Formats: sequence, structure tokens, C-alpha cells
Amino acid sequence: MPTVAIIGGTGPEGRGLGLRLAMGGYPVIIGSREASRGADAAAALLEVRPGLPITGATNAEAASEADWVLLALPYDALNDTVGPLASAAEGKLVVSVVAPLVIEDGRFKPVALPQGSAAELVQALLPKSLVTSAFQNLSARDLLRPDRVLEGDVAVCGDDDEARKHTMEMARAVKDLRPVDAGPLANSRYVEDLTGLLLNLNRIHKGHATVRFLGI
Ligand SMILES: NC(=O)c1ccc[n+]([C@@H]2O[C@H](COP(=O)([O-])OP(=O)(O)OC[C@H]3O[C@@H](n4cnc5c(N)ncnc54)[C@H](OP(=O)(O)O)[C@@H]3O)[C@@H](O)[C@H]2O)c1
Repeated sequence: MPTVAIIGGTGPEGRGLGLRLAMGGYPVIIGSREASRGADAAAALLEVRPGLPITGATNAEAASEADWVLLALPYDALNDTVGPLASAAEGKLVVSVVAPLVIEDGRFKPVALPQGSAAELVQALLPKSLVTSAFQNLSARDLLRPDRVLEGDVAVCGDDDEARKHTMEMARAVKDLRPVDAGPLANSRYVEDLTGLLLNLNRIHKGHATVRFLGI
């Protein structure tokens, strides 16, 4: 199985996806700005599920060692963090999980990025990588509970057919999730904004909403 580096992997979303992908059989490297934080996050996940193939490293080491790279960073960390990984990520699949959102007046609002979406910003920063986006609509809270049955579809966007196919394989490896081919990277803006709606629904209904596409 390809090794997956998670850049910004020490946050709840990165840890949650790391746990689930490792449960699905992928060797995972949790990346961080500090090697010790990556190692601590990996150790904490191994306490949840001993024996999984999870290690920790710096973001740069993780990106060079891995076959595939997943970005679980805040949107405003992309410019400074992702550009320097360009040579380590050259020719590799890079999956953006980023949903650019801010909280204003008690509700989540999408942030309009000049490139159109976080995923398109990532592709501009990594012109020699094969960028897709996926997993933005999954809550870290659910991912981090290994016994919780996940519900929902994973919309996968990307301009390269093979890269989209590999991303869908990754999503399929997470038990109970259904990957859905969502076309080119330009469609990522809709998926990213949808996370804002889900979070606002959670606030209104005190739940944890997810998304499933009916009719396909
Ligand atoms: N949380 C969720 O439920 C959820 C759901 C769907 C999508 N997402 C998306 O997934 C991404 C990660 O979410 P999260 O809640 O896990 O984020 P987070 O906890 O805010 O950040 C993740 C990690 O990024 C690193 N980081 C933070 N600020 C940074 C900076 N300025 N420069 C470089 N690295 C920085 C930190 O790792 P180190 O300090 O170890 O370097 C941090 O642990 C976001 O884009 C979010 O929109 C989140």
C-alpha cells in the first residue's frame, strides 16, 4: 500500500484521517512543524489502536518519505507551508482536505480565495504535483472514534483521472465511506463551502451532520 504523509497531521482532522487510513491498511506518517509533535500525535493514535502502521516526522520529512501526501492544514497556513514542499511532493498525489472557513457573528462563513478554492490554491503552489481534494465534509470528531460507524459520501475532485482514482481508492479503504467522483478541481469550491453549511447545521440542531448524494 502507498505510504501517506499527513501535513499538519497533529490537528484533529489530520489525526482522525491518519487513524482511519491506517485502519484501512495505509502506512501513515503524521507530519508537523516539530518532529516531536508528530511523534507524540502518532504515539497517541497508537494508544487508541495499538499496532497500526503510524509514525511521526516533520512535514518536510513526511512529504519526502511518503508516496502520497494529504494536506490537513488551516487554509491560511497553505501559502507558507505548502510551497516549500514542492520538490518533495513533485510527481506525487496531493490531497487537500482544507475547507477555508471563518466564524463571524456566530456562524461559519466561507473565505473566498482568489484561485477559487483551497485545492486550486494548492495546485498553484505545487504545479508539478497531482492535486485532488477530498474528505472536507467529514468531522474529526467522528473520525477519531475508531468504533464509530461513519456515514457519508466523500466527493473527490481533481483534474487528473489517475489521481482522482487513487484518491477514491483511499476513501474506499475507510470503512463505510463511499467515494463519489466529483469531477475537476474547480468543483472543489462547492465541497469546501458545504463544510460551512454542515457546521452551521450542527450548531442549529446540536448534531453532527454529514452529506450523502442521493440519485447517483
Ligand atoms: N476539524 C474538523 O472537524 C475538520 C473537518 C473537515 C475539514 N477540516 C479541514 O481540515 C484542515 C485541518 O483541520 P484541523 O481542525 O485539524 O486544523 P488545526 O488543528 O487548526 O491545524 C492542524 C495542524 O496544522 C498545523 N498548523 C496550524 N497552524 C499552522 C501554521 N500557521 N503554519 C503551519 N502549520 C500550522 C498544526 O500542526 P503543528 O503545530 O504540529 O505543525 C496543527 O496541529 C482545515 O483546513 C479544516 O478546514 C477540518
